[in-house]
Amino acid sequence: MKEWNIAVIPGDGIGKEVVPEALRVLDTAADIHGNIKFNYTDFPWGSDYYVEHGMMMPEDGIEQLKEFDAIFLGAVGDPSLVPDHISLWGLLLKIRREFEQSINVRPAKYFEGLKSPLVNPNNFNFVVVRENSEGEYSEVGGLIHKGEDQIAIQNSIFTRKGTENVMHYAFELAKTRKGHVTSATKSNGIIHTMPFWDEVFSDIKDEYENIETKKWHIDALAALFVTRPFDFDVIVGSNLFGDILTDIGGAIMGSIGIAPSANINVPGKYPSMFEPVHGSAPDIVGKNIANPVGQIWTAKLMLDHFGEKELGDTVLSAIEDATRTGYKTPDIGGNYSTTEVTDEICKQLISKKTVDLS
Ligand code: NAI
Ligand code: MG
Repeated sequence: MKEWNIAVIPGDGIGKEVVPEALRVLDTAADIHGNIKFNYTDFPWGSDYYVEHGMMMPEDGIEQLKEFDAIFLGAVGDPSLVPDHISLWGLLLKIRREFEQSINVRPAKYFEGLKSPLVNPNNFNFVVVRENSEGEYSEVGGLIHKGEDQIAIQNSIFTRKGTENVMHYAFELAKTRKGHVTSATKSNGIIHTMPFWDEVFSDIKDEYENIETKKWHIDALAALFVTRPFDFDVIVGSNLFGDILTDIGGAIMGSIGIAPSANINVPGKYPSMFEPVHGSAPDIVGKNIANPVGQIWTAKLMLDHFGEKELGDTVLSAIEDATRTGYKTPDIGGNYSTTEVTDEICKQLISKKTVDLS
């Protein structure tokens, strides 16, 4: 029996509603697999914790999380209790940085039965691999002078190590998919970092004979995500470019409530963290109508990370079956509750038990 120890942080708002549902699906997945077990340890950190203790997590929070195989997080933020910059920096960003989760992975795909805003979604299915720790989002720079003489300088940091890392990850991922990597660049306008990015891409590409590649400037690429998203497989981008592209990815799927993400510590020295793209959705909290799909698809990414790709794919196909047959929450045009959608996904999963997963 393989056992995985998972630190669970439901966080705030609908995080507390969708996380238990996703754990229910994970346990059902473990049942149909028969030879795998998930042990959960709950950490009640977030905005309520802040109100009581004056911090988002305990001083030794990072230490407590270190030994787990993964962190499974809901959403963090409750602007009625804690300003967003405090909740974000005090928990999420702290974990991402301390655990060197230098890569953010966000898949997007067309779901049958789900209304994409695109006229021709044509079964698009891609993954954006985003550099998650440097690039344009560095803290290097500053402001000088006041008034009309004021100057603001923001430096971008591109290390060879970080750039090679994210590209290697993208190429390795492409090997398990359609074998195509697109590089998001802007070497026509940004004259130092982006030609460097292109050069590293070209070096890494040479290590992967069987992977096809293409290079697009970010502006044209953003447009193609709207007009021809079905042309892509794996896209690799810097922190800023990846950030923008992944929001388009979420938008063309039809709801932010279904988009998943993974923050990966590549060497495996620290735990990776799995969280949906959406936030705590204070406007719908407590109504049992939050879409659980983003959190459940996130669980599938965690299964992939554990090396249980086939089981992960089975979970995704159970999600798709539920959506196709109309089990949808209101955000995607359905009448079903969070619990009912999850029930159906578990039911679909059980019906796949005959698939050989050993
Ligand atoms: P949000 O993602 O929480 O909500 C945006 C809109 O999408 C809302 O109308 C909400 O009802 C809807 N929505 C989101 N997830 C949904 C789901 N699963 N099912 C159905 N509808 C869903 O973003 P917002 O309102 O900007 O932020 C609310 C709080 O969440 C803030 O405190 C913010 O800082 C935090 N936040 C946290 C994130 C995280 O933990 N990674 C990411 C984004 C926001
Ligand atoms: Mg964003």
